[in-house]
Amino acid sequence: MAASLTPQDLHAWLRSRRSARRFLPQLVPAAVLQRMLETATYAPNAHNRQPWRFVILESSEGRQQLAEAMGQEFAAALHAEGLSAAEIEAQLARSAARLHDAPAALLLCLDTSVLDTYADPARTQGELYMAMQSVALAGGQLLLAAQAEGLGGVWVCAPLLAQAAAPPALGLPASWLAQGVLYLGYPAGEPLPRPRQAVDEITRWV
Ligand SMILES: Cc1cc2nc3c(=O)[nH]c(=O)nc-3n(C[C@H](O)[C@H](O)[C@H](O)COP(=O)(O)O)c2cc1C
Repeated sequence: MAASLTPQDLHAWLRSRRSARRFLPQLVPAAVLQRMLETATYAPNAHNRQPWRFVILESSEGRQQLAEAMGQEFAAALHAEGLSAAEIEAQLARSAARLHDAPAALLLCLDTSVLDTYADPARTQGELYMAMQSVALAGGQLLLAAQAEGLGGVWVCAPLLAQAAAPPALGLPASWLAQGVLYLGYPAGEPLPRPRQAVDEITRWV
């Protein structure tokens, strides 16, 4: 860390992260993505099992396969919510367009094959929760690494609805569960800050 950065500078920088959803039509160099992934792997994680797996969606075929896998589950969820066929089609098209248009898209997965299993199902379930928390920490670290590179990004939850279906559609191991997709790129404009709750309202000192 540069000696000139004070703790105040770092807090201000951390607080300046925003989700970016609109991007310039400029590609993200592979070396930049590589550096970000490396930084993501330094996230804290349960038992140091490092259950995260990263899938760079480079080809439009790969993005199409993911869009289709997510679309089937998403359509079923929207149908259950009572949306009309036309509304469902419009939402699916919007969701697929966001995926296709993102300058970089990165599917975050969780590899269940590295997790411990126990006779007690609750304990096994606990390991899965811990792995999800670990993958989420890597995702958060990726978004901060993106910011360090002058990129913007947003975590999109749609793959979670198709967590078992999405990876096989991309030829990935069946033990990989999709957790989310990050859309990344050089931001078009400054995203508006979203309000935060006052710490005093959400904190108890006991
Ligand atoms: C687990 C998770 C799921 C999210 N899912 C979506 C999503 O599906 N679509 C979207 O536009 N933003 C999504 N977001 C981004 C949040 O909306 C955003 O982080 C939140 O509104 C706070 O805004 P900020 O990131 O600009 O501070 C998600 C963020 C997280 C951490």
